[in-house]
Amino acid sequence: DAAEKGGFETFMLKEIHEQADAVAETIADRTVRPDGVDLPELDDELLRGTKRIIIVACGTSYHAGLIGRYAIEEWARVPVEMDVASEYRYRNPVVGPGDVVIGITQSGESLDTLAAMRLARERGATVLAVTNIMGSQATRDAHATVYTRAGLEISVAATKTFVAQVAVMYLLALRLAELKGSLSAERRTELVTKLKRIPHDIDAMLEHGTAAIDRVAERHFDKDFFLYLGRHVGLPVGLEGALKLKEISYIATDAYAAGEMKHGPIALLDQDTPVVVVATDSPVLDKVISNMQEVRVRGAHVIAVASEGTDLTEHAEETLVVPPTDWMLQPLLAVIPLQLLAYRIARLRGLNVDQPRNLAKTVTVE
Ligand code: AGP
Repeated sequence: DAAEKGGFETFMLKEIHEQADAVAETIADRTVRPDGVDLPELDDELLRGTKRIIIVACGTSYHAGLIGRYAIEEWARVPVEMDVASEYRYRNPVVGPGDVVIGITQSGESLDTLAAMRLARERGATVLAVTNIMGSQATRDAHATVYTRAGLEISVAATKTFVAQVAVMYLLALRLAELKGSLSAERRTELVTKLKRIPHDIDAMLEHGTAAIDRVAERHFDKDFFLYLGRHVGLPVGLEGALKLKEISYIATDAYAAGEMKHGPIALLDQDTPVVVVATDSPVLDKVISNMQEVRVRGAHVIAVASEGTDLTEHAEETLVVPPTDWMLQPLLAVIPLQLLAYRIARLRGLNVDQPRNLAKTVTVE
């Protein structure tokens, strides 16, 4: 058991530390050209002709899909709809020939995702699978598969498979953008270069240590509620951070689009509430900072995830720093301190992080 954990105290911590490799392996031979991406498993004609994409998934895979939606719409200008698979399959969706439906599932066996993919296929859509498991059911139900290459993930809480899924969604968005001619070669080169730098950034971040994360965990591990806020791609990062915390520490969490705060969740804040804000560099950072100020006025504690070089100390009790990168690619870095925060809190609460109560790694029943 100890040998399998490679010197780490748990599988989850080991898998968090394997994330640079998960991204590097996933993008490796697909980013050989400086100004574009190769995904030979997908048909160029199909991608060129795609008018609408629908993404279906559950849990963490759904959050990867949300990030993919921002990238595909921004870079390739193809409209993307998103749904949790268990809702999609029962709402008699409008889908058919001409649509591309992407099922994201690390295991390739989540029952609801498989059912949603089958429904779309029966109605004439082209179905793609994004999965980590060779030969899994999703690969058999789909017309084509793009594999993540995260290696086997044992901990119930998904970490390295998430960053690999997000990486695949970026690859797909870049490939689509190239085929559709919606991004200049310069911009594609910039994005491919920055994407290839991400594994290095992840390793640097993990090597840098976790002092700030440990301080936040020690201060707040016994709280009974955490709120997460973010805008744009910071929102799915917040959703994923909140899911990680509730899964392994059993603390109630809510995650909201920061702009929605005044429409309800602000009523939850009191002097004691920890509020985790994804506040990395972006054109909406000013808006996020005003949300942080609104939180602070209520006496709640702001824990900000911020880009190196941006000083948010005035607005936050603690700042978890991540390396700067392109706005769109930021989730691959910003999610890591949130995984580690959830991890530290669960450990301080004395919980079994690899096997949380009531959860299965793969949900093959409804
Ligand atoms: C992630 O931490 C969860 N254990 C869960 O939400 C998971 O992402 C979900 O069940 C989907 O699994 P899949 O990717 O294998 O389909």
